Amino acid sequence: MAIRVGVVGCRGIGTTHATSHKNDALAELVAVCDVIKERADELAAKLGVKAYYSLTDMLANEDLDMIDVCTGGPENGGWHFEPVMEALEANKHVLCEKPISNDIHEARQMVKLATEKNLYFGVNLNHYFTEPAAKAKQLMDEGKIGEVIYCHQRTGFLGSEWAYSKTAPGYRMEGLPYFHVKAFLAHPFSIMRYFCGDIVQLQAFMGKPSYRIATNDPMVSVNSIHMRFASGATGFLFSSRGDTTMNLGGWWCVEVGGTRGTFTIENCTEKLTYQPAKGNPDSPAATMTGLNDKPEPIVTNTGVTDFGTTFPNRIHAFLEDVTNGVPKHKLRASGRDALATLEYTFAAIKSYENGGIMVTPDPLPTIKIDPSHN
Ligand SMILES: NC(=O)c1ccc[n+]([C@@H]2O[C@H](COP(=O)([O-])OP(=O)(O)OC[C@H]3O[C@@H](n4cnc5c(N)ncnc54)[C@H](O)[C@@H]3O)[C@@H](O)[C@H]2O)c1
Repeated sequence: MAIRVGVVGCRGIGTTHATSHKNDALAELVAVCDVIKERADELAAKLGVKAYYSLTDMLANEDLDMIDVCTGGPENGGWHFEPVMEALEANKHVLCEKPISNDIHEARQMVKLATEKNLYFGVNLNHYFTEPAAKAKQLMDEGKIGEVIYCHQRTGFLGSEWAYSKTAPGYRMEGLPYFHVKAFLAHPFSIMRYFCGDIVQLQAFMGKPSYRIATNDPMVSVNSIHMRFASGATGFLFSSRGDTTMNLGGWWCVEVGGTRGTFTIENCTEKLTYQPAKGNPDSPAATMTGLNDKPEPIVTNTGVTDFGTTFPNRIHAFLEDVTNGVPKHKLRASGRDALATLEYTFAAIKSYENGGIMVTPDPLPTIKIDPSHN
């Protein structure tokens, strides 16, 4: 039976989510809701569903299995807490946009309540619901990367000193130095953690270029973060909000290097390059051990250039996990996974504010394993 869905927040991303549900056989889009009446009415009419102007009303009048929260707010996450908590209190499964919140205390409460209620709580960490990420994970699972030595992630908005404009930053950015850090780093941190596991120490250097300083733009727009994973691997994350134009790998690039091989993903959805290590017995590089030997990389060009494809992919994965009744701790891109990215974000801010000191992110809640899934 299809999962009966209500979407909260009917602007750009809410429209994308609602349309994904509408087109997904695992879902039945029942209603949409926005505190701004015209937005709810317009989207409801477009998709042929009912409009509501408060979540409370929608919950009271519809029989829903899940609520999809696309509300945004300050730092793109400041309006997620109330609807997520209300939906969980009403015993609905919840999918929420990222960042899980802009407030670490709220994020912890959301994850705690979902666990107490034994509900599925997922977050739209959509950047790794792609063909290159699936193939890369398969390489890791098949032992073709070996022990991970390093992970480099470079992701951000492309820009330049000429492209910069500080026109009408609006409520999301105004006076908020950590807008980019809190709104965006959920993505690169989620990818690094997806491939390499928990981060146990990090150190951040951040700043902004002179044109932002000259215009009193508060945003800390350049983020350079060095880290160590629990596995012992090291990592480096660079992100910028429009201060530079990146070259090889485009706007989004991750490289994971191990003792048996290395992979690189470029532009999120577009390209995977696997470089088998010299001497790797399962590859054409088996006989190569010389210093100057260079094994041929294996390149997959997916032909997928539309980043928008990550939304229906990720939403389908959530619907699939709920439909299949997977153990809660096996939910893909869970609230706990999103909480991890926010813990790292707050650790990075603490490091930056203290001159780049080494910070250990706060521990995540213990994973509860439902005995019925033993
Ligand atoms: N995963 C991604 O790749 C990705 C990309 C872009 C944006 N996002 C995220 O999507 C979210 C939404 O982005 P957007 O650009 O559509 O935001 P937006 O601010 O344009 O729209 C949010 C809508 O939610 C409504 N709203 C707020 N609180 C509400 C409430 N309690 N009840 C009902 N309606 C409420 C607002 O009126 C508004 O129409 C943000 O959290 C953002 O970070 C994710």
